[in-house]
Amino acid sequence: MQYRELGRTGWKVSAVSFGAWAIGGTWGAVQDDDSLAALHRALDRGVNFIDTADVYGDGHSERLLARLRRERREPFFTATKAGRRLSPHTADGYNRANLTAFVERSLKNLNADSIDLLQLHCPPTDVYYRPEVFGILDDLAAQGKIRRYGVSVEKVEEALKAVEFPNVATVQIIFNIFRQRPADLFFEQARKRGVGILARVPLSSGMLTGKFTSRSNFESGDHRAFNRKGEAFDRGETFSGVDYDLGLAAVERLRPLVPAGMSMGQMALRWILMFPAVTCPIPGAKRPDQVEENAAAADMPPLSEDIMTKIRMIYEEKIKPSVHPYW
Ligand SMILES: NC(=O)c1ccc[n+]([C@@H]2O[C@H](COP(=O)([O-])OP(=O)(O)OC[C@H]3O[C@@H](n4cnc5c(N)ncnc54)[C@H](OP(=O)(O)O)[C@@H]3O)[C@@H](O)[C@H]2O)c1
Repeated sequence: MQYRELGRTGWKVSAVSFGAWAIGGTWGAVQDDDSLAALHRALDRGVNFIDTADVYGDGHSERLLARLRRERREPFFTATKAGRRLSPHTADGYNRANLTAFVERSLKNLNADSIDLLQLHCPPTDVYYRPEVFGILDDLAAQGKIRRYGVSVEKVEEALKAVEFPNVATVQIIFNIFRQRPADLFFEQARKRGVGILARVPLSSGMLTGKFTSRSNFESGDHRAFNRKGEAFDRGETFSGVDYDLGLAAVERLRPLVPAGMSMGQMALRWILMFPAVTCPIPGAKRPDQVEENAAAADMPPLSEDIMTKIRMIYEEKIKPSVHPYW
């Protein structure tokens, strides 16, 4: 495993880390035994950073991480999120009482005294114009409830605004072969300010592994069945907001570019690592074999300039018009 500095935190985190949404819920049936085996395998392979949220399985994902912490001696960083328990999900809900309650609940779920990294969970854009919200996070840090804080954003503009707050340590944003806009402006700003970047949805919900076909079926409880057009939450989170058939067609164009000895998913992760501003992708994984494959990408050779150019062309031609203006 390779390690990269998480912005100015001084933490060295695994270049391929772990996203713990799918092991919490909303991705069809998952068994805790498989999820725990996946988490154990991640630590075995040197992963030391795990992203979760209080709403993943209503705390189930966080509680699995508490179990992992009990079962293993190796230290690992836990990043969780707060805000999405709000209903309605409004900027006004990001107040002291609610944020404190969310943090206390996560501490209980994680069975921890302090949260390594707390991220605002894709709050409404207005939150980035309320410095008092970041003041509340400073207070939670001063009380020792959280060590660092950051944000998870939907839009590049939110990311650009978020890094103006001096104690925002990280920005989590969708960045993958199908979502390239963050690299245009935002990465440079984040780098200048020493802000770590967590690339989420790195496999475009599995599409960029190349395993799906027009006949693939998704369980009714899987967001890939019920959120393709954003019916339940931001449509950009499911297949990166790319129409399923368009995604399949782009994958066919990518397939011949996969270097020998790599899987397509590994190429997708390696592509993200070609951007030095990115700290790590946080691919979700439900089973140890997926973790194994994803983690191995960290140690694979860089992609050639030719492959990078061809991937950019595929994005420009096929994908950009349907995603670039939206996020
Ligand atoms: N708003 C937010 O803050 C937000 C939103 C989304 C995600 N996230 C975070 O980002 C993380 C990653 O994003 P994501 O989980 O949505 O999408 P992703 O990482 O692009 O895709 C993950 C899914 O792809 C499949 N997969 C993973 N590795 C594979 C492999 N080697 N071979 C074949 N299939 C593989 C698995 O599902 P199947 O096996 O079922 O296909 C897995 O659940 C999340 O877990 C979460 O921590 C945050």
